[in-house]
Amino acid sequence: MDFGLKNRLSRIIPAKTGKTVMLAVDHGYFQGPTTGLKDIKKSITPLIPHANCLFVTRGILRNSVDPRIDTPLCLRVSGGPSILGELSNEDITTSMEEALRLNAAGVGMSIFVGAANEDRTIANLGRLVNEAERYGMPVLAITAVGKEMARDARYLGRACRIAAEIGAHIVKTYYCDDFEKVVEGCPVPIVIAGGKKLPEREALQMTENAIKAGASGVDMGRNIFQSDSPVGMIKAVRAIVHKGASVDEAFEIYSSAKK
Ligand code: 5RP
Repeated sequence: MDFGLKNRLSRIIPAKTGKTVMLAVDHGYFQGPTTGLKDIKKSITPLIPHANCLFVTRGILRNSVDPRIDTPLCLRVSGGPSILGELSNEDITTSMEEALRLNAAGVGMSIFVGAANEDRTIANLGRLVNEAERYGMPVLAITAVGKEMARDARYLGRACRIAAEIGAHIVKTYYCDDFEKVVEGCPVPIVIAGGKKLPEREALQMTENAIKAGASGVDMGRNIFQSDSPVGMIKAVRAIVHKGASVDEAFEIYSSAKK
């Protein structure tokens, strides 16, 4: 691996623990104003210092994020359809030049395995990796967003492996039973998305299960920013991911922050 690629990757997944807490706040790119992110600047500013990396669109970056932050950025570079359309109709919307201009440590896009336009999204991933490798830019591939595919280890394992084979350097997917099988079949680090808002203890349990099954961390959104204590929740998730805290210990961190 080239120095630049390795260096950027280690900003996203710090070598100290080999794990990461990415904060996903890109939801508006297809959902519009999302619960918990309506006033995005107010919502994310207190969370940024607790994240290892911010997963974000260029529009939010320019308008709502202080450029003096030292949290690394991973830029969502795909888009096209809204939540009202066919989600798999995505294309690349943000150039590599723009990612470099914004000082991104990585770029991310979705692939839609099993959906109407799976072939186009997978080919788009290949093209993005080709370009990203030229500049030493890691690519995060996001799998299994959208239509309710059976989110089991067989489906998610297939989607993650395809993403890695096409050249993704990190894969983001959902947690499922037998998650170790998904990890086993994927030669690059996997981070989990949180998915729909769960009660806090359940979200922390899911985080612990994923880490124990071999995940390299989380790229979590709604279970943090829709919590009644977003800062408490990100600190609790961090404790599990980086310190091996138990769910009870992490829940205590969340509860005291809430008080
Ligand atoms: C949407 C995304 C989100 O970043 C991802 O789903 C993580 O957010 P959440 O934890 O809310 O699921 O990639 O396409």
